[in-house]
Amino acid sequence: MKKIIIAIDGYSACGKSSTAKAVASKLNYRYVDTGAMYRAVTLYFLENYVDQTNPKAVAKALSNIEITFHHNEKTGKSDTYLNGLNVEDKIREMEISQNVSEVSAIKAVREAMVEQQQKMGKSKALVMDGRDIGSVVFPNAELKVFMTADFDVRAERRQKELFDKDQLVDLEEVKENLKKRDKIDTTREESPLIRPEDSEEVDTTHMFFEEQVDQIVRLAGTKM
Ligand code: C5P
Repeated sequence: MKKIIIAIDGYSACGKSSTAKAVASKLNYRYVDTGAMYRAVTLYFLENYVDQTNPKAVAKALSNIEITFHHNEKTGKSDTYLNGLNVEDKIREMEISQNVSEVSAIKAVREAMVEQQQKMGKSKALVMDGRDIGSVVFPNAELKVFMTADFDVRAERRQKELFDKDQLVDLEEVKENLKKRDKIDTTREESPLIRPEDSEEVDTTHMFFEEQVDQIVRLAGTKM
């Protein structure tokens, strides 16, 4: 069977990461969460007071950042490491969500991340999710999926996800954050979130989790 690349893009909180992870696990493929990479860069920028308006400071910071993923035996999931430290929980906090879209809009940040992501695709057998995977990172991906869901459903799902991690966040605050990120992500100059013409749209509003996973696995099967 042919090994392929599956690119999954879409708005914030429409279930991309959990779906992509499950698809990868069913196909025995590698999964890469590119949102986690942009979140880790944002954490570094905040912790080190990097001046985002200063290209030299941004370039220096990027040269000091190493992002890796390691399997967590306890959770069975892959955790994000920033310069050798496990930052999986930290990067999911609201403070990072509040700042990540501004950091992700910086050209030098995108170039550095895209270069690493393309290296990860060399041996195929990969599921990658984000905002520009089908449009910029892997424009020749064998399968491109564009995931959507109704805004209110996305906000409720994200609030529950935060609650499950002991973070109590008001629904209005979650909605404001999603609105803000959608706006920046779709209107930025550098690789904005678009729906690639050759992508398959999967609207998860009324879907059970298993259904959306099966649908993508089925679509993948037609490309292998
Ligand atoms: O996927 P997640 O919601 O964790 O992504 C966090 C943020 O990272 C997005 O709102 C977006 O600003 C940025 N991002 C991006 N390009 C990607 C993945 C994420 O700009 N490929």
